Amino acid sequence: MGESSIEVRKLDHIRICLEKDVEFKQKTTWFEFVELIHVAAPELNYVDVDTSTEFLGRKFSAPILIEGMTGGAKGTETINRNLAMAALELNIPMELGSQRAAVEKPELAESFKIVRDVAPDIFLIANIGGVQLVEGGVKLAEEVVRMIDANALAIHLNPLHEIVQPHGTTSFKGVLDAIKKVVESLPVPVIVKEVGCGISGELSRRLEEIGVAVVDVGGAGGTNWVLIERIRALERGFLENAAIGKTFLEWGIPTAAATIEACTSTKIPIISSGGIRSGLDVAKAIAIGASMAGMARPLLHHAVVGSERVIMALKQIILELKTAMFLMGCRDIESLKKAEVVITGRLLEWVKQRGIRHPKIRL
Ligand SMILES: Cc1cc2nc3c(=O)[nH]c(=O)nc-3n(C[C@H](O)[C@H](O)[C@H](O)COP(=O)(O)O)c2cc1C
Repeated sequence: MGESSIEVRKLDHIRICLEKDVEFKQKTTWFEFVELIHVAAPELNYVDVDTSTEFLGRKFSAPILIEGMTGGAKGTETINRNLAMAALELNIPMELGSQRAAVEKPELAESFKIVRDVAPDIFLIANIGGVQLVEGGVKLAEEVVRMIDANALAIHLNPLHEIVQPHGTTSFKGVLDAIKKVVESLPVPVIVKEVGCGISGELSRRLEEIGVAVVDVGGAGGTNWVLIERIRALERGFLENAAIGKTFLEWGIPTAAATIEACTSTKIPIISSGGIRSGLDVAKAIAIGASMAGMARPLLHHAVVGSERVIMALKQIILELKTAMFLMGCRDIESLKKAEVVITGRLLEWVKQRGIRHPKIRL
């Protein structure tokens, strides 16, 4: 049956992401509850504002990551090539979509490997599901890293997505142990990410304890994977899956809250992602403690057109980040990390009830 094929699913994801509005409808990222402090006399020349940063031992032009999206189906190599050309041109890191399909069908590996043809030296992050590692273990992790000569491995955790997805894999038992074993034997750093429901402070701490190098919070408020799978479930007549999807449409920890949770619970670098839509969002993410901010779906629309479009979109984001930094009087990312913020509304309520102690938030 078509719906059990990973390839068909990957193409469905791209089609639905391009054609439908699949953002969260009620829940937001809560970045609107993070206020940055305007400095009317910045004592800076705008042209001197420097957005470059260091992450996992490499220097990048901005604290921005192209989040994993695709590969493993016909046509996806063009998307990956265009994203890779942008990553190369702008000197930012890039993550691939899940490589599971290419492990099962090696002829699909080309849609991932193409990245190394056009951008042999970019910082490239391999991708596999945590749930797949429970069965595939270290061997699977090594295989996806080797496939693209990756600089790091991202392991995605997506329990709600798997529940709503027709024929999803729902056995997460042993997933942390599987991640621990991968961390212990892989030569590259391991990033653990969610894809839109967020990672809590408690889980971030646990992940740090088992040796994970980076947590990517993948919070709620951006691309809604429950909605995407609900649309697929309805299209294919999986009514139970679709109904669960409807109930849990707005489930998840908003990205700003997840970022604060992860940053205050660990000492490892945190990537803030899920609904990052502007350079101002990036500035807010860094100011509340993230080391990088990741973006996915907005870049997909450009990547299907061409690499120039991706580059233009990302340059705009970087200019907005630079503008925010200028207006805050921050010459570089280090001073943005130290800049004061004010947290309001529901985010403040969350911080209080969760007993979070953030050096910049005075309760
Ligand atoms: C078309 C598409 C496919 C995706 N596929 C994957 C994937 O295979 N593996 C993964 O870890 N994340 C995947 N993601 C999730 C993103 O990496 C990201 O976590 C999520 O979309 C939230 O970011 P956004 O709001 O900027 O889109 C995908 C996202 C999109 C838009």
